[in-house]
Amino acid sequence: MTPQTHALSTDEQNALRHATEHVITYRNDLPHRSIPPKFDAAEGMRRFWFDLPEEGSSPTEIIDHMVREGDEGLMQLSSPGFFGYVIGASHPSGIAADILTSGWAQVTGYSEPTPTTAAMERAVCDWVIKLLNLPDECGAGITTGATLANTVGTITARNSLLRRANWDVEADGLFGAPEVHVVIGAEAHSAPLAALQYAGLGSKRVHTVPVDDQGRIDVTAYREVMEELSGPILVILQAGHINSGAFDPFEPLIEIARQKQAWVHVDGAFGLWVNAVPELADRLAGVEQADSWAVDLHKWLNAPYDAGMVITRNRPDLVRSMSAKGAYLPETGAAWDPNDTVMELSRRGRGVPSYAILRTLGQKGLREMIARHCGLASRIAKELSDVPGITVLNEVHCNQVAVVFGEDGPSDQNTNDVLERVQKKGRCYPSHGAWKGRDILRISVTGHATEDTHADMLVEDIREAWQQVQNAL
Ligand SMILES: Cc1ncc(COP(=O)(O)O)c(C=O)c1O
Repeated sequence: MTPQTHALSTDEQNALRHATEHVITYRNDLPHRSIPPKFDAAEGMRRFWFDLPEEGSSPTEIIDHMVREGDEGLMQLSSPGFFGYVIGASHPSGIAADILTSGWAQVTGYSEPTPTTAAMERAVCDWVIKLLNLPDECGAGITTGATLANTVGTITARNSLLRRANWDVEADGLFGAPEVHVVIGAEAHSAPLAALQYAGLGSKRVHTVPVDDQGRIDVTAYREVMEELSGPILVILQAGHINSGAFDPFEPLIEIARQKQAWVHVDGAFGLWVNAVPELADRLAGVEQADSWAVDLHKWLNAPYDAGMVITRNRPDLVRSMSAKGAYLPETGAAWDPNDTVMELSRRGRGVPSYAILRTLGQKGLREMIARHCGLASRIAKELSDVPGITVLNEVHCNQVAVVFGEDGPSDQNTNDVLERVQKKGRCYPSHGAWKGRDILRISVTGHATEDTHADMLVEDIREAWQQVQNAL
């Protein structure tokens, strides 16, 4: 029998080439495509959910079929006109590196067996810590997103606080452990609450502190809550409120936390990136004094989904909480190993796409992108608030804008009607939110390719939709 000269059959090579070609075609087409999917969830199920055939098929045919049948069910989340949720637009250099990541198949847990991808992840961790102006001694782990980064941060906080109280939670669990008090703002994102749930601290067993009109923790109310507490305390702060983009007043809050030896964790899923821009960093003054931070790579860095990062001031705390060595695994030593700071044992080189993006943008490109998005958000807010009947509910702190509509005060009906019209038109896509008991149209500027022209289109489409809603009243 003649040995095969290539590891890949012709069909497999074609599948890879077709997939890459399909991606290039799709991405080139993005700015011209209508953003919402053209078919609904039931149609998606009809097309793709069936009994798995007994016989397999050609990989090229399958890839082509997936694209042919799936294309109309894609939401154009990476369109430069996409302003919904808080979604980064998967930077092309990250997509290219993501293809390498899958092709190389480096299960990136340890530096020895996978030195290339482990070194790239280390570079990403160290570059991001530096870019975000966090202390040099910080350690980091690359997670699937901010929910997991908050979870790992919360677990590390819990373990470190309890260790200080002479309780080894890693070995002995939480039964009988001293109580850990948790202090959190009334308008925290759901992700840190999920983290408390996963960490066994309970999402409801928290001291909730009132916030101001932008969703920032009220310092006086916080001081009163903290004065009542003793023992291990975890304080959870926020860099980037989902609706207003506002930042908690870190300096006074962390100073009070220090007096109680509390651990301060910051959920900075998107907002922490603002600290990379020297002209804007005073908005987060003092954030570097926290003990741990969660930040997303897949939001403002525009890494392909999914990637986030947990950062702790003290790397050994993170390593102690995350490394779980089995009999066949190397001991934690001098090597920098991804497995020491994440929950997964087997994992892809999740940081590799971010490595390519950071090198593509450089420090300057990254700062320019964040500053441009903040500038666009301010301009959009200003131009919309000049229109009678349109109210912008927030001061623009970074890239988020919360808008409501109504001639005699905001009306949920008007807001939802405007949103539906803009989304249906298809070239721009803000999304729905709820804030202060009202429905809002929420605008988030995070796409790497989003420029002035897209902001102009968004303002034009919102104005036009509001006019149509008014005409129909
Ligand atoms: C402030 C904040 N925290 C946490 C998250 C959760 O992030 P992820 O979806 O990456 O888990 C988000 C998502 O929008 C967010 O805005």
